[in-house]
Amino acid sequence: MAGGGKRRVAILISGRGSNMVALIEAARDPTFPAEIVLVLSNRPDAAGLVRAAEAGIPARAIDHRAYPDRATFDAALDAELRAAAVDLVCLAGFMRILTPGFVAGWAGRMINIHPSLLPLFKGTHTHRQALDAGVRLHGCTVHFVVPELDAGPILAQAAIPVRQNDDPNSLADRVIVQERRLYPAVLALVAGGQAWLEGGRVILAAQAPDGALLSL
Ligand code: GAR
Repeated sequence: MAGGGKRRVAILISGRGSNMVALIEAARDPTFPAEIVLVLSNRPDAAGLVRAAEAGIPARAIDHRAYPDRATFDAALDAELRAAAVDLVCLAGFMRILTPGFVAGWAGRMINIHPSLLPLFKGTHTHRQALDAGVRLHGCTVHFVVPELDAGPILAQAAIPVRQNDDPNSLADRVIVQERRLYPAVLALVAGGQAWLEGGRVILAAQAPDGALLSL
């Protein structure tokens, strides 16, 4: 990682990119410790690519269907990231499993947002999973990426109450509001050197806010 200055960040998306937009907007603040230098999507039709380009961020698709296997796709991704001299990678609705080799190359420098309070409800359909489990608190998590899906050390979480009449859509609507709030705050912590991975655990600097952002 280059010393001083802002950390160079790439955002990986697969879809509409509303978390991506939140990160781009936060990074416009001159005091934000990161700049968004690249957006990559594995899906050429991702709406987020258009939104990134509109925001003036270089945005490209690397279509996973053009590669024979995960390793060659990940190698192409890695080459783009390194060509752009990226320091940190943010996964924001990136719906591809990454190979252990790729993840190892970005260990401690790649974070993800997931729409549940991990370690509960990994994978997809997290709002349906929460309703089926009958939990009273639901939310989102930002964590460092490790090879095992949705299992990395947790940086921060935001919670919402589950209400009597909630369905997966109403939960998704309230969780995404918290995601767009949480992700820029966590990127600021990591890019600003106030949170890092050490020995497989997240360390928060003494002056860092704690990682619980309850929003009841
Ligand atoms: C977000 O809810 C994000 O947490 C989720 O996809 C959505 C993307 O929305 N990610 C995952 O489920 C990853 N396992 P967005 O494209 O509007 O940011």
